[in-house]
Amino acid sequence: MTSERKRRPVVVLIGFMGAGKSTVGRIVAGRLGVDFIDTDSELVRRDGRPIPEIFTTDGADRFREIERDVVIDVLRSHPGVIALGGGSVMTPAVADALAGHHVVYPRITADGGFARVKDSDRPLIAGDDPHLRYRELLEARDETYHRVGTMAVDAAAGDPEAVADVVIELLADTLVPERAATT
Ligand code: S3P
Repeated sequence: MTSERKRRPVVVLIGFMGAGKSTVGRIVAGRLGVDFIDTDSELVRRDGRPIPEIFTTDGADRFREIERDVVIDVLRSHPGVIALGGGSVMTPAVADALAGHHVVYPRITADGGFARVKDSDRPLIAGDDPHLRYRELLEARDETYHRVGTMAVDAAAGDPEAVADVVIELLADTLVPERAATT
């Protein structure tokens, strides 16, 4: 096995804010005994500023550039489970970089997902009618999430352990040969 092969992520979680990508990702990583990384947290660690501040100071376009570079670097170097920021796959270079990876899209409803993020400081839903904005953005992105994802999982019930079960089941066929190849 080449070192390049060893550094490939086991699985990448994409999808909208409030889908539980990080919670599910952490559970999946724990069960598989691999590391977990959240690209939002990694971006904040590298940049040194919280995401709302980057949006306010540098603007959304610059945030997407910073995000693109972090995500592409993490995809190249992280061998475990990765959760991506919800808007990152809308950047074509990020969507392209996901080709060939196992990419899971946890699907939620607009009401369920919004309930989980409404009290957060996410800049994309700041403004007069955050619920409407959330619903419109989810609808606008759903097609891309389906296209970029290699597997969609129903996460509407909001039980991350159950979603993790499904993810691990879906990955089972792909994980066995990869594990065998390391021995
Ligand atoms: C965003 C989602 C957030 C974060 C930023 C922008 C988006 O990540 O990257 O606020 O455009 O959907 P989560 O999906 O982890 O909330």
